[in-house]
Amino acid sequence: GAPVEVDISGMQPGEKKVVEWRGKPVWIIRRTPEMLASLKAVEASLADPDSKRSEQPTYVKGAARAIKEEYLVCIGICTHLGCSPSDKLAPGAEGGMTADWKGGFLCPCHGSQFDLSGRVLKSMPAPDNLPIPPHTYLSDTRILIG
Ligand code: FES
Repeated sequence: GAPVEVDISGMQPGEKKVVEWRGKPVWIIRRTPEMLASLKAVEASLADPDSKRSEQPTYVKGAARAIKEEYLVCIGICTHLGCSPSDKLAPGAEGGMTADWKGGFLCPCHGSQFDLSGRVLKSMPAPDNLPIPPHTYLSDTRILIG
C-alpha cells in the first residue's frame, strides 16, 4: 500500500481524524495537556506501559508513544480479535470510566480498555497495545503514514 499523507493543520485540541492506510483505520488525535497528563496517572494499571512487546517504530518512545507528544498516531484495531475500539477521549468522561482508567478507547466486542496512547490496561482480553504505524512529519502540519 502507498503511504498516506494527512493534513493536521486544522485540528483542534481533543480532535480525532481517521484515515485509511493499507485497509486499516489510522487514528490521529491531537491530545490536550489534560490528556497527556492522564498518561502518567494510569501507568500502574497498564499491561505493557513501555510498549516493550507491542508493535511500534523504534523512534516512538515513552508514555506518549509519539514523535510529537501532542499527536497520537495509531492503528484503531483491537489486538484481541480485531474490532475497532470506540472513543472515550476525555479524562473523566462518563461511560465506563473507572478510577484506574482516565480516558482513552473501549473495545465494544469484549471490553478491552486502552489509555490515550492506545496502551491496554491489565487483565483485558487484548494482550498488547494498539499498534503505532510507521510515520514521519513532512512539515509541522503534514504527516506521512507508511
Ligand atoms: Fe477487542 Fe475482543 S476484539 S476486546
